[in-house]
Formats: sequence, C-alpha cells, structure tokens
Amino acid sequence: MQQLIRRTLRGRKFIVVSNREPYIHTRRDGRLEALRPASGMALALDPVMQATGGLWVAHGSGDADREVADGRGCLRLPPEKPSYTLKRVWLSKQQEEGYYYGFANSALWPLCHIAYRRPVFRQRDWERYQEVNQLFADAVAEEIGPEPAFVFVQDYHLALLPRLLKERCPRATVALFWHIPWPNPEVFRICPWKTDLLHGLLGSDILGFHIRYHCNNFIDTVDRELEARPDREMTAIVYRGETTKIRSFPISVDFEAIDREAGRRAVRLRMQELRDQLGLQSQLVGVGIDRADYTKGIPERLRALDRFLDLYPDYHGRFAFVQVAVPSRLHVEEYRRLNEEVDALVEEINWKHGAGAWKPIVYINRHLDPVHLYALYRLARFCLVSSLHDGMNLVAKEFVAARGDDGGVLLLSQFTGAARELREAIVINPYAIDCLAEQIAQALAMDEREMRTRMRRLRETVRERNVYKWAADIIRKLGKLP
Ligand code: G6P
Repeated sequence: MQQLIRRTLRGRKFIVVSNREPYIHTRRDGRLEALRPASGMALALDPVMQATGGLWVAHGSGDADREVADGRGCLRLPPEKPSYTLKRVWLSKQQEEGYYYGFANSALWPLCHIAYRRPVFRQRDWERYQEVNQLFADAVAEEIGPEPAFVFVQDYHLALLPRLLKERCPRATVALFWHIPWPNPEVFRICPWKTDLLHGLLGSDILGFHIRYHCNNFIDTVDRELEARPDREMTAIVYRGETTKIRSFPISVDFEAIDREAGRRAVRLRMQELRDQLGLQSQLVGVGIDRADYTKGIPERLRALDRFLDLYPDYHGRFAFVQVAVPSRLHVEEYRRLNEEVDALVEEINWKHGAGAWKPIVYINRHLDPVHLYALYRLARFCLVSSLHDGMNLVAKEFVAARGDDGGVLLLSQFTGAARELREAIVINPYAIDCLAEQIAQALAMDEREMRTRMRRLRETVRERNVYKWAADIIRKLGKLP
C-alpha cells in the first residue's frame, strides 16, 4: 500500500477529507478518552491512512477535541501508533445544526435512501451547508496551496467541495466517494438545489459509488438535470469541457486485522462474561449491530423475530437475540421517533414471549468497544442485517471477518450493496416479515456442514476484497489520470 501510494503520488500530498473524524476525544468522569465512531466510512479509512500516512481533514466534534489538538487543529493518530495527521475543522453550533443535522441528515440522507422518510429542505440549512463546505475548502487549500496534490473527499456532507477545490487549487486531483446510495432521477429531482449539488460533484476527476447501479442512477440524473454529455460507454460525464469518471468501488473492511483481533483471548474471555451477564448460557444467539438509524430496518427485524417466536414456540427459552443500536443523530426528530419505536417494540415482544428469567430480546443502546463487538459476533449463531436501503453495509463484512472459526450464518438484506458480493448469505427482504421469520428458523436449523461451507466462501470473498483493495483501486485510477 505504501509503495503504491509513493509510486502514484510522486511526491504529491495525499489528503482525505470527511465530515466524521476517525477518533473523537471526549471526557468521561474527568478521564480523556479517544472513541471510535460508529461509522463504517471512518473505520474503513483509518487503516488505509495508517498505511499511507498523509493528512485527514474532518470535523472536530468531540467535547475534548480541542484539548489534544495544536493551534492549527492538528494531532497525530492513531493514539497508540501515530502514523498520520488529523486536522480538525471547528464548526459553530449553528453551523453543525444547519449543515450536519439539517441539510446532510434531514435532506440528503432521506433523499438518497429509499426508506420512505420525507426529506426536509430548509433554505437556512442549505446556506449553512454551503458555508461549511467553504470552511472545509479553506482548510484543505491552506495545506496544499498551488501545489499538485491528491484530495480524496468522502460522502454526502461535502458534495460542493470538489468544485470549490478545483477553483482554489487548480492543480489538485480530486476524487469523491459517495458512501450512500444514489437514487434514480425521479427521486432526486425534488431537491430544490439539485443542480448546485451536481455542479459541485462534477468538480471531481473521479466520482465513486459502491455499485454499478448507483453509477448508472447518477449518470441518468445528470442527463436529466444538466447540460452535460454522459458517455455511457466510458462511464464518464463531460461537463463544461471537463471529464468526470464515474466508477464503482465496493468498500470493505480490514479483514486481516479483524480476523486477528477477534481470535484473541480477550475476546474469548469477554464471550464468557457476556454469556454470564446476559444469561445466554445454553442459548442459541442471534445478533444485530447497527447505528440506530431508520434505514437499518430495526423495527422490521424485531417484528420478524416476534413472528418467528409465534411460529416456533420450541425455541422459547433456548434462543435470544442481542440487538445493539448505537445512538446516532439524536437532534433529528426522525431518529428520536425511531428510538421510541424500538424501545416500545422490545418491551412488547419481551412481555409477550418472555417467561421467568428468559427474555428473547436483549437490547443494548450504547457504544461498544471492539472486543465487545467481536465477542458478540463470535457468540452468534446468526447475524441479521435487515437494512431497508444501504450503500454497502460493513457490519455484514465485519461479521464474516470476525468468524475465524468458520461458524455463523449471515442473513443479509437484498437492499444492501454487500448483497451483490456476499452470495453465500441468506438473502432477505426486510419488508417481507413472514418470510424473514422462516429464514430466521432456517438459519437456526442449518446443518453445520452447510454453515461452514457458506462461511468459508464468504470469508474468501472478504479476505480478497478487503479495504486495501478498495483504496488501492481508487488510488490506481487517480494515478492514471493525466
Ligand atoms: C454513514 C455515512 C458516513 C457516516 C456514518 C455514521 O455510513 O456514509 O459518512 O459517517 O453513516 O454517521 P454519522 O452521522 O455519525 O457520521
């Protein structure tokens, strides 16, 4: 990876830009802690940055972030093995409100995920979004000036950045990776600032999506909304004399690191502790691990479990489902509503089916450390990913990487990017509750041989298509540009 980067960069700077930072510093009971965020994007890029060095520019969102950064907002990461620099961009409460909670997560997020939540478009949010994209452009321009550089921008928070960078730093090569789905033109057309967004994105030399389908949706959208020439054969768009290549790069996880960490003694010890604490001694365990987000299909999953328990009373007392939902974006009304709905459903299902000390659903709604997560993956007979719509879904790949014992069944929504690669999963439709209840029973009853064969193949796929391959493919593409 380092060699590839060095060869490709030929002395140019490599800068990653994202909203979410890889480590959030916070004070808990007076103690300084560096938390890893529940963000597939941030977790995936951290090992890439460790391998490449370079600079990562992101929003400093932790309450103790300023304490550990220097006057320019910079610090070396990761804490235990400093190998790259993080430069934190500071935002005011109003900026965060309008740009992050507002335009990014109340307008663009529901617009791009077809999960039947209505996007909210507020002029004030849009203005903050523009303002914050400018701030990020300032932060990057300050670092590269007029020199040639590679800038790798992440996600829907920074759609205007590629254009702003091209104006400020014309010798920079810019790639943007869109980590969430891109919807079809009928869905996208309701956005009042759709042409500004497309104009911003087409400042990129390369625009990446997880799957081909999202690339095609994007090209169709541009075709409909802008005076631009799509070149479908080359999967590129020529706009105002400049070319943007549109490519799919399926993101992944650091397979080797997860495999190694999940096989450690600390994880085995934690598994035993969890069995004791959660009363899971002789039970079959299912897990679901998500950010508490309405796109993840958590209520649908709980309803399917309820139906399963109706249909298969034999499993009462011998099965438990552990749902981890890490709190997320709590200032957005829809997320608060989701949490209430999930609380109520867990309570209702446990009341309806529970008996004595046995409760079918164990609900954990807080942030967990990696050892705890790996212990849960390893305890599980199955992992259930029931997203209503998901760009990729890295929980599915993480589960597979953590199963060095070749055990465990993956139930995976057909509406995730991951379903295109993880062919040996049981593919589910989270809207089809009855069918999903039967598939849960199928996962529990699957014979050992089939389970192991499937898991071995899944592991081969994730081992080979790991996060370094994702990054290397993008960097190689960047290197080939004139
Ligand atoms: C998705 C987005 C990421 C984001 C993550 C967590 O995976 O694509 O950009 O970081 O959700 O959301 P948050 O709002 O906490 O960063």
